[in-house]
Amino acid sequence: MASKSTIRSEHDPLPFGTNPLFLEHCFSPAITIAAGPVNKAYIKTFGCQMNEQDSAQMLSLLSQAGYEKTVDPFDAGLVLLNTCSIREKAVHKLYSDLGRLRPLKDEDPDLVIAVAGCVAEQEKAKLQQRFPYLDLVFGPDHIRHLPQMLSEVKEERRKGQEGEAKAKRVLRTGFEKRQDFEFVNVLPKEEETPAKAFVNIQKGCDNICSFCIVPFVRGREVSRPHQEIIDEINGLVERGVQEVMLLGQNVNSYGLKNTGDITFAELLQEVADKTKLKRLRFTTSHPKDVKDDLIDQFANNPILLPQFHLPFQSGSDRILKLMRRQYTREQYMHIVNELKRRVPDIRFSTDIIVGFPTETDDDFEQTLTLMKEVGFDSSFSFIYSPRPYTSAVKIEDDVPQKVKAKRLQVLQDLDREICFEKNKAEVGRVEDVLIEDIYEQSENTLKGRTPHNKIVHFDAPGRTIGQIVPVKITKANPYSLFGEFAA
Ligand code: SAH
Ligand code: SF4
Ligand code: F3S
Repeated sequence: MASKSTIRSEHDPLPFGTNPLFLEHCFSPAITIAAGPVNKAYIKTFGCQMNEQDSAQMLSLLSQAGYEKTVDPFDAGLVLLNTCSIREKAVHKLYSDLGRLRPLKDEDPDLVIAVAGCVAEQEKAKLQQRFPYLDLVFGPDHIRHLPQMLSEVKEERRKGQEGEAKAKRVLRTGFEKRQDFEFVNVLPKEEETPAKAFVNIQKGCDNICSFCIVPFVRGREVSRPHQEIIDEINGLVERGVQEVMLLGQNVNSYGLKNTGDITFAELLQEVADKTKLKRLRFTTSHPKDVKDDLIDQFANNPILLPQFHLPFQSGSDRILKLMRRQYTREQYMHIVNELKRRVPDIRFSTDIIVGFPTETDDDFEQTLTLMKEVGFDSSFSFIYSPRPYTSAVKIEDDVPQKVKAKRLQVLQDLDREICFEKNKAEVGRVEDVLIEDIYEQSENTLKGRTPHNKIVHFDAPGRTIGQIVPVKITKANPYSLFGEFAA
């Protein structure tokens, strides 16, 4: 039956690219399935933090069902790709990985290949038509049924081998009713002491941004009952977690509509009052739902860190309207200025789309001026990518691809300049740094993050992952800092 899994934290030295760092997790046993003898599972994660957390949940479920994690797809009995469809490029990357997996399947017909996540939900049966060797395809709402789905794959195989019936490939897409959706509880294994963890507070999205596929692949917004969130954080803290990032596509609307029982600001307060957590962050916020009670939290909540990721997408009101973002530049700036007034040490990061259909030089110029006006400590910028199901695909796009690429370059150059200036201003400050990683080459060299979420490299003999230590910032690069242990 279920074997003990070996749990390690590691990067993925893959032939398919490098997996973003995520810690493996395990949650308390509840379901067991007929996994058979020890089997090895390989998971590759594309996309955002929500997908990383989904992968952690799948690893928990798999570990529980007797699978051991491997970072080598050639050594795996199960290869699972957890996918992202936010831009077309991400989908192309998946297709190229799937093409490269084919020889593995030819060599080992017992191998199970599964595609989970947003592309699974986007493409549904079409994915198995295009790649007939995919044994299992399932959307984000079906994660908690992974062990049962794998049993079904095995059962179908058995039927096929024994000639009972032709083996069917397993497909699970579509969404559960809001009231039926259950969140999976994820706790690290006893022997792990990760420095930080994600905690889901919401799934799906009820917004209507015209460029975005998320509502179509993640379903309606559902808020997780707050007591479950508090319990999960308490469990994490007991195991040594110092910092939690609350996750949702639009955390500000937590609890406002459906299953949630308190507001987002109240949830932040509860976490401070009812857990011993040291550091709290959240992502992502939608400017239209940022109200005074959230600003009050930044000003008064002792564990909420002074860093705010607030995507603005475009500095032009005309484009914001076409994007159906439901706020104006002035409203965005009001939030920023109010926060700067009440919390002088606050830092901002953001997401920006360039080359939205019909974007003129003047619209783009307004994006640049907004960048300068706010002075973001970091930003993520993308060229607009038309996505299936979204309403923006109906807007005629007269902006040449070359112009879009040029605008992205200009924006990223400006971002680098601003980030560098901001980082230089950190030199001389002493910051509480949460140690997240140790360099393999030198065990005294550590990597951690400041409360403003900036990466710092420093030496601190005897200190280790999970500790919060004072570090004096001594040198700045555009995207990272160097420091000295300041005990
Ligand atoms: N829920 C978050 C965003 C999630 S998607 C929010 O509302 O802020 C992350 C980022 O991807 C978005 O902020 C946007 O900048 C970018 N993005 C989304 N759809 C895109 C598209 N079709 N083309 C290019 N970038 C896109
Ligand atoms: Fe997409 Fe908008 Fe929802 Fe964010 S808020 S996930 S951009 S629809
Ligand atoms: Fe991508 Fe799905 Fe996240 S589309 S950005 S993995 S919600």
